[in-house]
Amino acid sequence: MVITTMDYLTIALPKGKLFSLSADLFAKIGYTAEGLSEKSRKLVISNEEKKIKFIITKTADVPTYVEYGAADIGVIGKDVLMESGQDVYELLDLGFGRCHLMMAVPRQQKRADLASYAHTRVATKFPHIAERFFNSKGMQMEYIKLNGSIELGPIVGLSESIVDIVETGATLRENNLEEIVPIMDATARLIANRVSFRLKFDRIHQMVEDLRYILESEVKK
Ligand code: PRP
Repeated sequence: MVITTMDYLTIALPKGKLFSLSADLFAKIGYTAEGLSEKSRKLVISNEEKKIKFIITKTADVPTYVEYGAADIGVIGKDVLMESGQDVYELLDLGFGRCHLMMAVPRQQKRADLASYAHTRVATKFPHIAERFFNSKGMQMEYIKLNGSIELGPIVGLSESIVDIVETGATLRENNLEEIVPIMDATARLIANRVSFRLKFDRIHQMVEDLRYILESEVKK
């Protein structure tokens, strides 16, 4: 018998904060694979018996693997998904990885109102979301794309403000920054490639129902 990619379900998991939460959730529905770990140097980890392949990718790349069908399924934060603008099917809100995207400025240099930041520089990992937000306020800004440690921007004079995610607020506090306006809430989402969703409907549908059952029973606890 010839085994093709059609027989497997390929799931992209992001490195970082969502990895273990995602892997633990999949394990609860029996989707496991020996050696599945964020630290693994092996980037494709399979369960031959269950015909599952996990691939481990950089967070921001999950929507790309899913849109192009290199992965059938992925787990990604709503913030990263919106920023990517990629055309995938959003199947389920997984509830974990809760955070929000906001604008923050140095506490000591806080201006009177949002409008007074127009035409200033904003450092962010999320230039598309930030631009949509400021456009909706009728504000033109200069966007400086950074890939991490966004809070450094205003401290070293790279920008007047940041647009970034907040979870506990510790990073803002440690760096004397203050949130001045919330932009959007985000949680982890289960996404699917649109073609895979049709071709592997029964399997994906069952997986979503199993995950939904686990998530709902955890809420009730
Ligand atoms: C994220 C985000 C903030 C921090 C917020 O960074 O960019 O820096 O977490 O979390 P907190 O409110 O709990 O302090 P991440 O740790 O993903 O690393 P990065 O700065 O390299 O993006």
